[in-house]
Amino acid sequence: MCGIFGFIPGSNETASDVVDTCIKGLKQLEYRGYDSAGIAGIYKNEMQSCKSVGKIKSLQSAVEFEKLNLDMAIAHTRWATHGGLTNENAHPHFDEKTKLAVVHNGIIENHFELRKKLAAQDIKFYSETDTEVVAKLVSLYYDGDLKAAVQRAAKDIKGSYALALIHQDQPNLIVATARDCPLVLGLDPQTKSIFISSDTNAFLGRSLDVMFVKNEQLACITKHSIILYDAQGNMMDYKLEALGIDLHAITKNGFEHFMLKEIFEQPMTINRTIEGRFSEEFGTAQLGNLAIPTHVFQSAHHILILGCGTSWHAGHIAASMLESLARIPTQAEIASEFRYTNPIVSENTLVIAISQSGETADTLAAVREVQAKGAKVLGICNVKHSTLSRESDSCIYLKAGPEISVCSTKAFTSQLALLSLLTLHLARIRHMEKAQGQEFIRYLKKVPQLIEEVLNQAPKIEKLAKKYAKFEHFFFLGRQYMFPASLEAALKLKEISYLNATGYPAGEMKHGPIALISPDVAVIAMCGNKKTQDKMISNMMEVKSRGGPIMALAPEGNEEIATITEDVIWMPEDICDELACIPYSVAAQLFSYYIAKERNCEIDQPRNLAKSVTVE
Ligand code: G6P
Repeated sequence: MCGIFGFIPGSNETASDVVDTCIKGLKQLEYRGYDSAGIAGIYKNEMQSCKSVGKIKSLQSAVEFEKLNLDMAIAHTRWATHGGLTNENAHPHFDEKTKLAVVHNGIIENHFELRKKLAAQDIKFYSETDTEVVAKLVSLYYDGDLKAAVQRAAKDIKGSYALALIHQDQPNLIVATARDCPLVLGLDPQTKSIFISSDTNAFLGRSLDVMFVKNEQLACITKHSIILYDAQGNMMDYKLEALGIDLHAITKNGFEHFMLKEIFEQPMTINRTIEGRFSEEFGTAQLGNLAIPTHVFQSAHHILILGCGTSWHAGHIAASMLESLARIPTQAEIASEFRYTNPIVSENTLVIAISQSGETADTLAAVREVQAKGAKVLGICNVKHSTLSRESDSCIYLKAGPEISVCSTKAFTSQLALLSLLTLHLARIRHMEKAQGQEFIRYLKKVPQLIEEVLNQAPKIEKLAKKYAKFEHFFFLGRQYMFPASLEAALKLKEISYLNATGYPAGEMKHGPIALISPDVAVIAMCGNKKTQDKMISNMMEVKSRGGPIMALAPEGNEEIATITEDVIWMPEDICDELACIPYSVAAQLFSYYIAKERNCEIDQPRNLAKSVTVE
């Protein structure tokens, strides 16, 4: 897991531009991990490097302090998998003579075994990482040809990787190769500079021609040139495609944090997600030209939704929607667990894979598993050109724009909006009446305005958050659609405030967790489901009787709820149960944000997390 970057300058670029370009590239990849960062390169035929524990800005200070200049470089931002947050474990890793350097994203699964073999040959290790094994192994095979040494080492390695390597004795060459990890090369058509990266985010603002390095391929990158080889070592033809300039500014736009900016963007992002994707006249969704033929949607007997984290929560909500409105048996599975269940996937199973980044290794592994069993996969993705968008049979984009905060907000609500359109599409090609479809669209169109109403309550939510910030333990309770919404609300709070927050089905509390209820445990009741309102009220009474303080998110004007709870955030009332999760989640996002702020937590880049988890 981590982000790798590399750069060979073209015309007009100096040695200090190389370091600067790498730092800028790493900053765009920082969402993939920020435990440490490092850079290595060749300057006047000598290996030079610099590493630093912590975020890219600390590496930036270090390279400035050392006045580092490089003729070409590889760089890395780390999310620790093997070994603690130390300088020794930071990438790049080197051979014993510090002539060869490597940066790595992925996991070398047989690192223990390889390390033992290498150690038996008196090769010394200085870190606890799996990556150092690659450096030592390639160095063992190196006899003047870095490409050949990497190809040979790749045969010994089990696991996943995107690797970039340099060697002091071949000072104009970067070797890059990948297996089950994303790797993209970009060429500036004007200057002929060449960029290597874990994803195209690092190219933002540049108009590059790009190419994705596929499994087991290897690229030799020298000044102005890329040569690509297949797994057998044969030279291959390749095509570069224009990436285009994404001018969407990655700035906080006056907000204190990206998370707050992204929360406030939601009326606009939902609009972008749904715009042009429905027909009021026909009461149905119009999802464009999907590469999966209509008959697959028509004949699907079963839908399987795969995702992780927030994306799984969106899938969980969608599964209920699909069963209830489209009447198709649907299960939402956590991708990392799903693979090991020996899943039953038939030709009538439609698989929907949800991933904001499109790079989550667990989701991709599950997708590959079902594709191998013959299922068609519909990807729901935010990031264009991502691995999921390329590997799924058809992909629908959220159009929510770059989400920078590690904690997902706008991508989640756009996922819900898009999944509700997909539900409408499937329901209408089966049995749903036109009028019912039109009614659903009426509610969906109103969602951005309802979110505005929630956002207008930000000062009140902030005040409540300050009151509840003193609690160390939280339960978020909900029923039906509000249950997965409460899982998501609890996840938000956990991620950014490090508090113990559990999402739970309200009706299930009495079967155990109610034993935990006390005045020290805050209960946040998400009462957005009309169908289960009475039962939810009973469940709140059960908590209240045991002295648990309750704050509710409830439909405007519900007096009964107001008498049970200590505090209420009033929510818009004119919304159907299926879509109520969207405004309710926005209120919960604000609540978590303000608690984290009150507790002085690092909001956009919480400890131990990364936005895109590219290891299984
Ligand atoms: C990480 C992020 C979560 C995200 C999950 C799935 O754990 O911290 O916020 O929900 O990955 O990411 P994806 O990009 O697949 O939606």
